[in-house]
Amino acid sequence: MNKEILILAFETSCDETAVAVVKDGREILSDIIYSQIKLHTEYGGVVPEIASRKHIEKINLVTEQALGKAGVTLNDITAIAVTYGPGLVGALLIGVSFAKALAFASGLPLIGIHHIEGHICANFIEHKDLRPPFVCLVVSGGHSHLVVVKDYGEYEVIGRTRDDAAGEAFDKVARAIGLGYPGGPMIDKAAQGGNPEAIHFPRAQVTDNEYDFSFSGLKSAVLNYINGAKMKGEEINIADLAASFQKAVTDVLIEHSMKAVFNLGYDTFAIAGGVAANSSLRAEFAKKCTEMKVKFFSPSLHYCTDNAAMIGQAAFYEYQKGNFSGYDLNAVPGLKLV
Ligand code: KG4
Ligand code: ZN
Repeated sequence: MNKEILILAFETSCDETAVAVVKDGREILSDIIYSQIKLHTEYGGVVPEIASRKHIEKINLVTEQALGKAGVTLNDITAIAVTYGPGLVGALLIGVSFAKALAFASGLPLIGIHHIEGHICANFIEHKDLRPPFVCLVVSGGHSHLVVVKDYGEYEVIGRTRDDAAGEAFDKVARAIGLGYPGGPMIDKAAQGGNPEAIHFPRAQVTDNEYDFSFSGLKSAVLNYINGAKMKGEEINIADLAASFQKAVTDVLIEHSMKAVFNLGYDTFAIAGGVAANSSLRAEFAKKCTEMKVKFFSPSLHYCTDNAAMIGQAAFYEYQKGNFSGYDLNAVPGLKLV
C-alpha cells in the first residue's frame, strides 16, 4: 500500500496567517486561519507593514495549532508547501522564510506554490468528481483571471483584468458608500433586497481580447453616481446601488466565462477566489451553467477566501510530479501563473 502524503502548508500572501495539514491532497486534517481583518478595518484596507508584523507574531502559534489539530508532529509530515507569490512582498516573505527554515531543519522537501493555483485547487478539496480539463474563473482582491486548467498543475491564462481586480472594485465601491472593509461581504449583505435593475452601470468590453476584463470604468461610474446624487441632494438607496453594482460585475464575468467555455469546447466550469463567495454571483453562475448544460463547481465559502488548505491541495500534485523548490525560493510579489 502507498504511504500517505501529508503536506504542511503555509499561506501568508495578504492578511491571513494560515497553516494546514492536508492528507493525500483531498483530506484536510487541519486548517487554521488567523485573520487580521479587524486590525486592518481601522485603516479601510490592508496595511502591508502591519500584515507582515502580525504574520511574524502568529506563524509559530498557528503552525503548532495546525499540527496539534491534525494530531501529527513534524516527523509525520512528507513535504512543506508555501505560497511564494503573488501578494504583498513582506507578508509573503514571512511564510517563505518560515517554511524554508522548517524544511531545512527537518530535511523535508519544500514546494513553492502560486497563490492563484491554490485558489483553483480549492475546488478539488470538496469535489472529488472534478477533473481537468475545465475553465476556471479566479476572482479575488488582487486577481481576475480566466484560466484553462488543462491538467493538474497545467494552466493557460486566457483572460485577465486590464486594471482593477473584481474584489478591488468591490472594496473600493464599499468604501465609497461607507460600508467599510472588506467590501465584498458588506456589498453582498447590503444588496440583499436591493433591485439589481435599479441603476444601469456600464459593462466594459476589452476590444482586443474578448476574455479580458476591465473594472475601473465601472468603479468610476459608481463614484460618479454617488457624487451626482450628493450634489443634487438626493438620497442614495444603498441596497439598490449595491445590487446594481454586483449585477454589473457578475454579468461581465458570466458573459466572458461562458464565451470561453463554448468557444474553446469545454463542458465544465469552476469559480474560485474571495469574490466567488458572493451569493448573487454564485447563484447566477449556477443558473447560467444549468441553462447551458455546463457542469458547475464552486468551493464552499470558507475555501473561496484565503486559506492554507488550498495550498496543501495544490502542493500534492506538485509533489507527485517531483516539482520541488530549493532553499533559494524567494517571495515574488508579481509572480505570473504561466
Ligand atoms: O481570495 P481572497 O481572500 O484574497 C486575495 O487573494 O485577494 O479575496 C479577498 C477579496 C476581497 O476583495 C473581498 O472583498 C472579496 O474577496 N470578497 C467578496 C466576498 N467575500 C470576499 N466579494 C464579493 N462578495 C463576497 N461575499
Ligand atoms: Zn487569495
